[in-house]
Amino acid sequence: MGHVDAGKTKLLDCIRGTHVQEGEAGGITQQIGATYFPAENIRERTKELKVDAKLNVPGLLVIDTPGHESFTKLRSRGSGLCDLAILVVDLMHGLEPQTIESLNLLKSGNTDFVIALNKVDRLYEWKTCPNAPIGKAIRQQSKDVLTEFNMRLTQVITQFKEQGLNTELYYKNKEMGETYNIVPTSAISGEGIPDLLLLLVQWAQKTMIKSLTYNEEVQCTILEVKVDEGHGTTIDVVLVNGVLREGDQIVVGGMHGPIVTSIRALLTPHPMREVRVKGTYLHHKEIKAAQCIKIAAQGLEHAIPGANLYDVGPNDDTEVIKKSAMDYVHKVMSRIGKSGKGVCVQASTLGSLEALLDFLETPAVNIPKDPIILGVDVVKGIVKIGTPICVIKSEVVDIGQVASIENNHKPVDSAKKGQMVAIKINGSNPEEQQKML
Ligand code: GTP
Ligand code: NA
Ligand code: MG
Repeated sequence: MGHVDAGKTKLLDCIRGTHVQEGEAGGITQQIGATYFPAENIRERTKELKVDAKLNVPGLLVIDTPGHESFTKLRSRGSGLCDLAILVVDLMHGLEPQTIESLNLLKSGNTDFVIALNKVDRLYEWKTCPNAPIGKAIRQQSKDVLTEFNMRLTQVITQFKEQGLNTELYYKNKEMGETYNIVPTSAISGEGIPDLLLLLVQWAQKTMIKSLTYNEEVQCTILEVKVDEGHGTTIDVVLVNGVLREGDQIVVGGMHGPIVTSIRALLTPHPMREVRVKGTYLHHKEIKAAQCIKIAAQGLEHAIPGANLYDVGPNDDTEVIKKSAMDYVHKVMSRIGKSGKGVCVQASTLGSLEALLDFLETPAVNIPKDPIILGVDVVKGIVKIGTPICVIKSEVVDIGQVASIENNHKPVDSAKKGQMVAIKINGSNPEEQQKML
């Protein structure tokens, strides 16, 4: 968890050897992601620290959350799912609004965490030591680098103190548990990654035996509902406890009532791969917690992210389960106005839709009288003359239609992905307004 652009996704990329962050629109995470790190990878990555720690955990299931301010719901969902969190702080920026928001979510959920103080490589004249333990990397640095590092570190420790928390570099921390651990890291050159992984595993093994002990009762939360080529509508879930099997009867809350269906396929991404990135999947007959799973089944179109998935056992009463499943849906639906007036909002995932709806509740929607001219960078799809557009600013949302497009000062009819163009937006005519509102 952490503020936007602190380096959460990049840290995971560095551990996985992937490039998920570079593929994100605007470099911003807009969904919850999850990746499974098997114990052997953790062992390999931490071997330079030469701690003969026994790895009793089978691995770590790591959840990535968005840091952008609009995604409070997804952060709250992510923090609610985890046993232990990594709070990522940008060394160059210190504590930022969503760092503090994340901190408060963790405090209120009583969730333990370690702090990754990221981007150490941005210290002026930092000498890169790829993937080295942080102690080793720090010993390679000049006096000036160390001075800047210590100054920034002290600032961050003071900022945490202002939030009522004691923090300390993990290798100097003599009161673990009372004082939170800081691990300096770089997601670009990998310094401190071995320390971070080892600390997570050791801390989990030392203090969380009880909450980590596997429980047979299925505990499973829906992260996203997605159409997947070849599998139809699927749900991405985090299985926290229990076992799911192909063919199991399941119940999930749906927009139009409870969905009772059976698991057609249990899919996972490969280990060290992100579930939210399209790729090839492994098929399973059964899966034991904890794992992130893509489930294919009939009738999932109206499933709701954030809801629980219930596994129907031979002695369970389906009616009781259906009622529990719908409790959550009723809570969500009570937030949605039914006046029939408003703006029609469409998003690629329900997670982004929630964020957008939250955002749209604050600003006023405005239909501008004078045309607006904007320089835009088309990152997805095609913009055509006539395309309805909303321009989101912090206080108002202007809605209208594209009246003209210029590419290099020449008028064009459309602009596609990768092009930078100037567009003129006219306020909608009354008929169009009626359609949009
Ligand atoms: P959101 O998910 O959008 O909240 O951001 P994030 O916290 O996942 O940050 P992300 O991984 O998208 O990184 C943001 C930017 O910072 C990217 O341009 C990264 O390349 C850069 N970055 C991340 N970590 C480091 C680091 O350790 N060193 C340097 N120099 N740049 C970094
Ligand atoms: Na980002
Ligand atoms: Mg991210």
